[in-house]
Amino acid sequence: MHPQPTARLIRGSILHFLSDPGEEVDHSAWEFFEDGALVVDDGKVLQVGHWNDVLEKLPELTRQTARYHDYCGKLITPGLIDAHVHYPQMSVIGSYGRQLLDWLEHYTFPTEAGFADLSVAQRTAAFFCDRLLAHGTTTASVYATVHPHSVDALFEAAQSRKLRMLSGKVMMDRNCPENLRDTAESSRVDCEALIERWHGKDRLLYTVTPRFAPTSTEAQLQIAGELFRSKPGIRLQSHLSENRSEIRWVEELFPDCKDYLAVYEKFGLLGPGAIYGHGIHLSDKERRRMAASGAAIAHCPTSNLFLGSGFFELDATLSAGIPVALATDVGGGTSLSMLRTMEAAYEVSQTLHAPLSAYRTWYLATLGGAKALQLDDVIGNFLPGKEADFTVWQFDATPELAWRMETTTSLDERLFAMTMMGDERCVAATHILGEPVNAWAAV
Ligand code: GUN
Ligand code: ZN
Repeated sequence: MHPQPTARLIRGSILHFLSDPGEEVDHSAWEFFEDGALVVDDGKVLQVGHWNDVLEKLPELTRQTARYHDYCGKLITPGLIDAHVHYPQMSVIGSYGRQLLDWLEHYTFPTEAGFADLSVAQRTAAFFCDRLLAHGTTTASVYATVHPHSVDALFEAAQSRKLRMLSGKVMMDRNCPENLRDTAESSRVDCEALIERWHGKDRLLYTVTPRFAPTSTEAQLQIAGELFRSKPGIRLQSHLSENRSEIRWVEELFPDCKDYLAVYEKFGLLGPGAIYGHGIHLSDKERRRMAASGAAIAHCPTSNLFLGSGFFELDATLSAGIPVALATDVGGGTSLSMLRTMEAAYEVSQTLHAPLSAYRTWYLATLGGAKALQLDDVIGNFLPGKEADFTVWQFDATPELAWRMETTTSLDERLFAMTMMGDERCVAATHILGEPVNAWAAV
């Protein structure tokens, strides 16, 4: 280990995951260092462990020259991952009384049409990225709008903040308003140009984004499959089996497909690197085929509750072998907060009599999300060499939390209570590649 002036030494309680703790809560799935040290150099993790052990091995010069961040009494975790979110829908959040298809027509499409104006896209993208960081989220898989410049706006905002971010232009050539419609061919040309401009630049990756089966012709879905396979590392995102009326509509539009998943199968839209929002009403057969393909599901519990879509069967999905991530799905979802999302995931699991542990929830929001997005080689935990995006949490950030913490006796309890009761007030700092970006706590 060579001493570098770029090194940072971070002290606090540290929690990160090595694997899925599972339903039975396997304690070897995570590491917790009550008095922990994280050593970062050049934006990457050099070492993580107990403070005394790490300090003992740290070269004298590094110890003297490293920037020191004291987060004693606080919890440090890998930055959270929001695996499915629509940045143009920041002003759709909390729109009353409609379920998916009506909600799209009445609230979402008119709002997205406003993104024809580049300045709307730029202003929203900057706000969105700043708010992600305020909530402790450091990576997201983001839907833009049909307008190619909406992707430029998001990637520019992410790039200037050095964020690891995935996004793509929505592809949508039927069953939507005229002013939001592309064509199969124009979407190919636009996506190819965006891929050329952005894919693999800094920490950005292009994600082919056909909105969902009903808004694309077969010709466009075919092109989406070709784009997905056109360059290494390109991701794909869409929606799947969210709402009963949507499923019936897909059956009508694609009569030759035996179920919803078969539409995406037909056009080569499954496989590792593909992630689908919702997946609430899948049959066992669909789950088995999805697992075999390597495609993942983004569980969006606040959205599923808000839009009245249903209760996602997390255990059945994970047991089938499908990678699952957590996601806000703003603006169907009600908050950019992954804590609020984890709370909703727990509440849904309770209605299904399969309570989700705090540990598994945090796994899903960190390493699980990274695996689902095929990013676990670079983010998701603090193994040496990973990119050092992390969030610092304060357990007693509100009077109610402080009161509640007085009677907690274990990490389990503290973590769970903060997850159920907390929000962005619990974020003491967020670091990107080791660097604090909104450190309003003592640094
Ligand atoms: N299905 C197709 N488009 C959307 C969207 O914008 N939000 C949600 N929740 N579901 C969708
Ligand atoms: Zn969505």
